[in-house]
Amino acid sequence: MRQPRILMCPPDYYGIEYEINPWMNRARGSSRERARRQWQKLHDTLIGLGAVVELMEPQPGLPDLVFTANAGLMFGNRFFSSRFRHEERARETPHFDAWFAAHGYIVEHLPEGMYFEGAGDALFCGPTLFAGYRIRSDVQGHQYLGRVLQKQVLPLELINPYFYHLDTCFCPLAPGEAIWYPNAFDDYGRRVIENHIPYLISANEAEARCFGCNAVVIGKTVVLNSGCTKLAADLQARGYTPVSVELDEFIKSGGSAKCLTLRLDGEEAAVWE
Ligand code: ARG
Repeated sequence: MRQPRILMCPPDYYGIEYEINPWMNRARGSSRERARRQWQKLHDTLIGLGAVVELMEPQPGLPDLVFTANAGLMFGNRFFSSRFRHEERARETPHFDAWFAAHGYIVEHLPEGMYFEGAGDALFCGPTLFAGYRIRSDVQGHQYLGRVLQKQVLPLELINPYFYHLDTCFCPLAPGEAIWYPNAFDDYGRRVIENHIPYLISANEAEARCFGCNAVVIGKTVVLNSGCTKLAADLQARGYTPVSVELDEFIKSGGSAKCLTLRLDGEEAAVWE
């Protein structure tokens, strides 16, 4: 079995300093101390599950750098750097690019004029890339990647501003298996997912709002935000071991377990060959 390798960034400068999705509220803010404890718990849980966790240097003024899932898309030793829609997050890119270059990856950029937010919106399930678009990423970015990687890309329109990244409403578990929140997609998107993934576990609305779909999969273990009782039971019935970690300080920014990680060796469900 391969050893999972995950990139994370400590939440030293995490906070709600702007509002670019409906979860974020500057007036409400977040507690840095509580965020630190929750992040540490996630970090330690992943190490306990056998993952190697690499750390990025936190940067003042970049409160969302903790969400490493948005750095870019991994494919072997190639790192396709994100082109963020919002200027506030575009400032993270030089830091991500520098980290990947320094760690021996080939850093590649999409052509200008197309937005792309990395593993937040592009997830392999088997050899197929499922790709969320409209709210953050553009469909052209995904099509470009499909051409360059010679992989089938299935674009999925995201229609609910609360589920603005694909990883907030869709989580591949293994080839042919995923968690999803059907209401985040239009009819066409729902049909595409149903036709390509034979085994689907649905999150209900409350669990989707608890970021139950934003899970980190390590082998047969699924690490997800606490409070998703039915989803945890459904995962267990399917042979998975759910592990809950309280991450509500990050939901205040529209993120949870998955967003706080980037799987460097490829998601568990990804088949790259
Ligand atoms: N505040 C961040 C944003 O709106 C949260 C990103 C969450 N990341 C994710 N992969 N869904 O961009």
